[in-house]
Amino acid sequence: MTARAKKSEVAQPYGKGADPQTGEASSPGSAFDELIGVDETFRKALVSAGRAAQSDISVLIIGESGTGKEILARAIHQASRRKNKQLVDVNCAAIPDSLIESELFGYEKGAFTGARTEGRKGYFDEAHEGTILLDEIGDSSLSVQAKLLRVLESGTFKRVGGTKNIKVDVRVISSTNQDLADLIGQKKFREDLFFRLNTFTILLPPLRERREDIELLVRHFLKIGGVAQKQKFRFSPEAFAMLHAYHWPGNVRELKGVVSYALNMTQSPVIDVGSLPNFLFSESPGRDGLQREAAASGPASLNLTEAVRDLERRLITEALAISSNRSEAIRALGISRRTFYLKLREYGLE
Ligand SMILES: Nc1ncnc2c1ncn2[C@@H]1O[C@H](COP(=O)(O)OP(=O)(O)OP(=O)(O)O)[C@@H](O)[C@H]1O
Ligand SMILES: [Mg+2]
Repeated sequence: MTARAKKSEVAQPYGKGADPQTGEASSPGSAFDELIGVDETFRKALVSAGRAAQSDISVLIIGESGTGKEILARAIHQASRRKNKQLVDVNCAAIPDSLIESELFGYEKGAFTGARTEGRKGYFDEAHEGTILLDEIGDSSLSVQAKLLRVLESGTFKRVGGTKNIKVDVRVISSTNQDLADLIGQKKFREDLFFRLNTFTILLPPLRERREDIELLVRHFLKIGGVAQKQKFRFSPEAFAMLHAYHWPGNVRELKGVVSYALNMTQSPVIDVGSLPNFLFSESPGRDGLQREAAASGPASLNLTEAVRDLERRLITEALAISSNRSEAIRALGISRRTFYLKLREYGLE
C-alpha cells in the first residue's frame, strides 16, 4: 500500500540563499537543495527544518496541498544522522481500519488466514533506526490515531499474532494540510496525539504568498523537462505573465503539472500561451469545466487514434495539475489505478 521508501531525487544546483544546515551559502549536495525558493518565510522554514534535522525531535509540517511537505520531510531525513536508514512514508489516511495493526506493526507467521507464511514486517519495523513519515495525519481515523499514540508513547509494539514487545528507535515526522486545532475541536483528532507530534512545527507558505518564487520554480521545472527532452525551453513573456498572475491553489505541484503540460503541448522551444492549459485563463474553472475545456479545445490532428491520444494526454495532464494527489486525479478521470499508471508511462507523464 503506502509504505514507500523512495530515495530522494538528485539534488539540483538551485539551492539559493543560506544552507539550512550551516547558515552559509548553500553547497552542492545539501539535502535541502531540491527545495527551490528564496522567499523569506520559505527560507526560514528551511532553516528551522535544518535545525530539526540535527536532533531526533518530532516534527510536524503544516502546509496546503502541494507546498512541498513530503519533499521537506525527505530533506530532513537526508540531513539527519539517520540518512543511511529508511524513510518509511505512511499514508495515514489510506490505512483501512481492518488492517491497521498488521500494516503498522506487521504480523507473525500464521497470524491469520491469508497471512504470508513467513510473516511480514510493519512500517514501524521497517523504519527502525530511520524515520517514519506520518503523511496526511489529519485525515487518519481515530482508530489509527489510537494505535499511533500507543507506539509513540511506549516506543514498543507487538506484531499481530506475536507476544513479545518489540522496541523501536524511530524519528517521527508528520505532515498535514488540515487545521489540527480545528479537528480537535470537532473531536476528529486526539489532542494527546497532537501534543506528541507537535513538538516542533514547520509551516510551509502557499505559493500565492511567495510569488517571487514562481519564476525560479518555472525555470527549475523547465530545466528538468529540457534535460529529459534534450532541448532548451523558455516561456514567451505573455505566457510567463499568465503563470505569474495565476493564484496556484494547488501550489508547487500544480505549477509543476502546468509546466509539464506546456512541455508536452509546445511545438516550439519558446512556449506560448497556446500551450498553456485553459484553466489558467479562467478565474475559477472547477474540475468539470476543466475537462470540458480540454475536450472543447479540439484535437491537433484529424487522425482518430492520434486525436484520442492527444485528448487523453491533455485530460490526464490537467487532472494531475489540479488534483492534490494522484488518487484524486484517478477519481476525477474515472479510470482504474492500473490504467492511470499505464497511461502515465505511455505519455511520459510519470
Ligand atoms: N520548493 C520546491 N522546490 C521544488 N519542487 C517542489 C517544491 N515544493 C514542492 N515541490 C514539488 O511539488 C510536488 C508536490 O510536493 P510534495 O509532494 O512535497 O507536496 P505536499 O505538500 O506533500 O502535498 P500533499 O499535501 O498534496 O501531499 C513534488 O513533485 C515536489 O517535488
Ligand atoms: Mg504529501
